[in-house]
Amino acid sequence: MNVRERYARERWVRLPGFLAPGTVRELERLTRDLPGRRASLSGREPPEWDELEAEACPELPRFFLGEPALAVVREALDLAVGIRPRVRCWANRYRIGDRIPPHRDGGGDVQMVVCLKAPAGEANGGVLHLATAGGVRACPLRPGDAVLLEVTAIEHWTTPLVATPAAPEPERVVLVGRYDL
Ligand SMILES: [Fe+2]
Repeated sequence: MNVRERYARERWVRLPGFLAPGTVRELERLTRDLPGRRASLSGREPPEWDELEAEACPELPRFFLGEPALAVVREALDLAVGIRPRVRCWANRYRIGDRIPPHRDGGGDVQMVVCLKAPAGEANGGVLHLATAGGVRACPLRPGDAVLLEVTAIEHWTTPLVATPAAPEPERVVLVGRYDL
C-alpha cells in the first residue's frame, strides 16, 4: 500500500528511515541552540517537556517546505500541483520524566514529526502512541524515522523518559512541522 492509500484510510503513516543519518545529525545540531521554554498542555502543571522555537533557525522550516518532506505531504493528501501549504515548525525535547500527555492538536491539516534523537532502548520510554480507529498503536521512532498524522483527529501521547543503567540521561528530540493548506 502506498502513502496516499494508507493515509486516506488510516489518517497516519509511518515513514521509517525517512532521513539519512547525515541529515539527522545536521538537523539535530541545529536544534541545540534554539530558544525554548518548559511547556505543558494548556492549564496543566507541572511543565512536561521543552518546546523549542525552530522558526528561529531558517533551515528548519525550510526542511518542511523542501524535498522529501513536501513531496510526501503532497502524496499523502493528494494535493494538486501548485498548492503550496503553509508550515509552522517547532521542536520538542524530552528528558527524564518528560512526556506529552494524551491530546489532539487544535489546528493543522497534517503534521509531520521527525525523530532527531531517541533514547537507547524502549526501556527508556519516550514512545509515541496513537489512538487510531483500529486501536492504540505504539509508534516507536528511531532517529531518521518520521510519522505523518492528522493530529486534530488522532489522539496521541508519549510515554515518560526513564533512566536506566545503560542510558542514565536519556533524551528525545523531535522536529515538528504543522501544515495548513
Ligand atoms: Fe500533538
